[in-house]
Amino acid sequence: MTAPIRLAIVGGHRGGSFNAALQAFGDLIELTAVCDTDEGVRERWKSERPGVAAYARYEDILNESSVDAVLLATPMMLHARQAIDALNAGKHVLSEVIAAASLDECWDLVEAVETTGLTYMMAENYCYRRVTMMIRNMADHGLFGETTFAEGAYIHDCRHLLFHEDGSRTWRGQAAEGIQISRSNGYPTHSLGPVAQWLGVNRDDRLIRTSTYVTQSASRHGYAAALLGDDHPEALPHAWEDATDSASTLIETEKGRVISLRKDSASPRPHNMVHYGLQGNAGAFLSARHDGEDPLVWIEGTSPGSNLPGSKSHPEWQSLWDFADEWEHPRWRERGNEANAAGHGGGDFFVLEDFARAVLGEHPSPIDVYDAATWSSITPLSAESVANNGAAIDVPDFRRGRH
Ligand SMILES: NC(=O)c1ccc[n+]([C@@H]2O[C@H](COP(=O)([O-])OP(=O)(O)OC[C@H]3O[C@@H](n4cnc5c(N)ncnc54)[C@H](O)[C@@H]3O)[C@@H](O)[C@H]2O)c1
Repeated sequence: MTAPIRLAIVGGHRGGSFNAALQAFGDLIELTAVCDTDEGVRERWKSERPGVAAYARYEDILNESSVDAVLLATPMMLHARQAIDALNAGKHVLSEVIAAASLDECWDLVEAVETTGLTYMMAENYCYRRVTMMIRNMADHGLFGETTFAEGAYIHDCRHLLFHEDGSRTWRGQAAEGIQISRSNGYPTHSLGPVAQWLGVNRDDRLIRTSTYVTQSASRHGYAAALLGDDHPEALPHAWEDATDSASTLIETEKGRVISLRKDSASPRPHNMVHYGLQGNAGAFLSARHDGEDPLVWIEGTSPGSNLPGSKSHPEWQSLWDFADEWEHPRWRERGNEANAAGHGGGDFFVLEDFARAVLGEHPSPIDVYDAATWSSITPLSAESVANNGAAIDVPDFRRGRH
């Protein structure tokens, strides 16, 4: 394979937000086609990018010889099937999150990648944000010591995405398909992805057990009443009784670490893009709680104070940015301004570059099918745990012992 890779975007809404990154990496990737079942979305692409072919049927993309790879940005319950079909048609796959919605889909995806040998990457852009990459750099160099505990949360009021203009539910609002609202942790990868990388999950540790508790559903019917009227059926609390506002998941790793995740896409509050923490036996990290606050770290021996015997002062948090001169991730140091300009906290920019370079054989996929299956499996595993009153459920080893 030689550059540029010829890419088709499938699902033109979210797919459109990769435009800035595509322009930055024009020498590596060329957008040759888009595919969307919605005519209006196709028309918009045709007027904005007249040179790019627009297709309504996914099968036509799979038969198209001018397409080397697909970027799947369709509703999440379609990702695994579309990825497997693309791999079987000889196309490399970059898949939006989550990669798969059931354990069977996770295993089928692993098998398709192993059988075809093609490049598969999950586009978990939160792994590439400035803070998450800097903490990874610090963790990889042992600054936190032996890590014991990590947390991540995706807390984002997404109730504005529940309804079409005519008041019918979008895929995000449908209890049957909308895994995002069901009684589970339906969107775990933004929180788990960075944390798993800091802890070396699927490298020298692995997830072994998980349990989830969910809250009652309290916030969606009020939103529906404000949008559609008090008498609308969606305004009744029981319309949302299959949903949860907030899911809390605990995961144990083979090395004895514990990961805590929260997913909440309904509770009314300001959006905070990142919400993470990391604890080791030599330091700790706390992400900012809101815009305008600095992320904080305390590193034994470097930061002020200590709890060790003989210390004259207690530990004091420091701004993470005090460490930027030394520990900024080299990629952010080099291209951070461009990444930020491409949107989504810079993540889409690095995702696209890494996928292209993996397809070109410059390095393995950095978020490969094993990471994609492991991180995404928390969705079906959390549903199973909730259905069994929070029981601990084993996490499959998608690498089958090959660590
Ligand atoms: N990583 C991130 O930061 C991030 C941000 C937003 C969305 N997402 C993910 O991107 C995906 C899409 O989200 P969205 O907000 O754009 O959803 P959306 O519903 O707004 O858009 C989905 C698009 O896919 C099209 N589509 C549906 N079925 C199709 C099919 N079979 N073939 C081709 N096109 C089809 C729809 O017409 C629509 O234009 C989701 O999986 C979501 O989780 C990720």
